[in-house]
Amino acid sequence: MRIVSGIRPSGQLTIANYLGAIKQFIELQEKHEGYFFIADLHAITTPYEPKELKNAVLSAFALYLALGLDPEKSTIFLQSQLPEHSELAWILETIAPLGELERMTQYKEKKQEGSPANAGLFLYPVLMAADILLYKPQAVPVGEDQIQHVEMTRSLAEKFNSKFGNVFPLPEPLVLGKNSARIKSLQNPDKKMSKSDEDPDGAILLLDSPQEIKRKIKKAVTDSGKEIVFDLKKKPAVANLLTIFSGYSGKEIKQLEKEFSGKTYAEFKNSLAELLTEKLKPIKTEFERLMKDESFLIRLLTQGSAKAQKVASKTLEEVKEKTGLTLK
Ligand code: TYM
Repeated sequence: MRIVSGIRPSGQLTIANYLGAIKQFIELQEKHEGYFFIADLHAITTPYEPKELKNAVLSAFALYLALGLDPEKSTIFLQSQLPEHSELAWILETIAPLGELERMTQYKEKKQEGSPANAGLFLYPVLMAADILLYKPQAVPVGEDQIQHVEMTRSLAEKFNSKFGNVFPLPEPLVLGKNSARIKSLQNPDKKMSKSDEDPDGAILLLDSPQEIKRKIKKAVTDSGKEIVFDLKKKPAVANLLTIFSGYSGKEIKQLEKEFSGKTYAEFKNSLAELLTEKLKPIKTEFERLMKDESFLIRLLTQGSAKAQKVASKTLEEVKEKTGLTLK
């Protein structure tokens, strides 16, 4: 099976990005043909600092590698190095229904949060459709918040195929961990954990220091009562912490409930902070080692982009033929 997925290099990656997406990429790359990229063209749809973008891209790439994505097994690339992504996005924009774009939750949320409205933010899902369809994948591993965009990708592919002729197989969103697909903020279990700045204590960054991890877990909200049980309705904050514990320890939730029965919230939080510290420490060390050799990272990422381009350019050729954008 071929799979495609991307991550925006906006802010620093969080444990939610890992549990909801990257962990799946790493498992899937063993048996499947993976195309994983850094979505820098998506990152510029919200306010950002141009001078810092290169470092954000290289950091995201180094983190991918430190976490275990392997360029020998998967194709890892940078979206903006392939003009095919923007070009196909434009073509798809000509068949994308405005009404459907207006209904996209992420767009509505970003607008509500006060992101300056720009056409790029509005057309974000169409670029995402291009990212996906260029590689004709069967599946797109994502966290829950991106499912709506993958569904829109399917409907654009269907529309294109019926209007111009069959080019695109319809990709499915792939959500492997049911609960880990929607990790919540540590400060507010009604909100998703996010790398945006408004919620600094709600998110644990993959590069947080042991002190930061401890502080944030200690400060994490809990629910009334004392028991450590998984109940999404009555105990959403504890359920979230259990999901994180399970994702990082590999233990089933049921087993964790047993292990922590009779223990206090404080004891449970201490164990979780220890677990995260232990799991994230080697990642940070490897990340720092990789970041020392910028030219190696740039070379490796550029090689990945060249590999991806072989597939992307073939699909774009097909699209141009079908749409009449050719002099052949
Ligand atoms: P991004 O960068 O916001 O998030 C990257 C991945 O992490 C998942 N994720 C979460 N999973 C569980 N709990 C959370 N709280 C959480 N927050 C984020 C996301 O679902 C995503 O899988 N538009 C995409 C990037 C993108 C893309 C694509 C993805 C661009 N083109 C094509 C797939 C295919 C985004 O902004 O993800």
